[in-house]
Amino acid sequence: MKFFVDTADIADIKELAATGLLDGVTTNPSIIAKSGRDFLEVTKEICGIVDGPVSAEVIAMDHEGMMREAEILRKIADNVCIKVPLTIDGLKTCKALTNDGTKVNVTLCFSANQALLAAKAGASFISPFIGRHDDNGFDGLDLISDIRLIYDNYGFETEILAASIRHGVHVLECARIGADVMTAPPAVIKGLFKHVLTDKGLEQFAADWAKTGQSL
Ligand code: G3P
Repeated sequence: MKFFVDTADIADIKELAATGLLDGVTTNPSIIAKSGRDFLEVTKEICGIVDGPVSAEVIAMDHEGMMREAEILRKIADNVCIKVPLTIDGLKTCKALTNDGTKVNVTLCFSANQALLAAKAGASFISPFIGRHDDNGFDGLDLISDIRLIYDNYGFETEILAASIRHGVHVLECARIGADVMTAPPAVIKGLFKHVLTDKGLEQFAADWAKTGQSL
């Protein structure tokens, strides 16, 4: 499963990229607003840190506007992936951009039927929002399972990018189901490294090593 980080925080992106485990970055207008940075400038900086796809989302609601914005965004770097919403105009834009070889991430997916439409429109990634689905009384992980089943039934190559991930259990279950990618906030990814028994074991080894009086 590929790991993307859902942030525009440069320090966090650099820290995770240094582990060698980071396969890409996702942003959205809320994340850009939170960064307090210029959209184009921060996206360019992120594209220079990671080799993998960096999702940058259009703001326009209509097809013509989305195409105009996509033109600006895809000039930022070769690894920019244009993020469009799951609407008729968004999928029309997805079709036009992917026909040209541009990578497209279709976002705000809350049903398996929507994911089917995105795959038919040639999306590179579909982003089902697990946490927000759970918040509204639905099972976000069931949504991932349904999309996996449908994509496998027809051999769609659109990658399932599990988004709106809130904790490690979401990551674990996405891996069990076979999501292609997961994107999570930095704190969730950093939390995956942690286990109380790892910390306890390290303390014990350090204490026992000190008793030997040896050094390397
Ligand atoms: O970037 C899309 C998605 O991951 C947003 O997550 O936590 O705002 O629901 P969240």
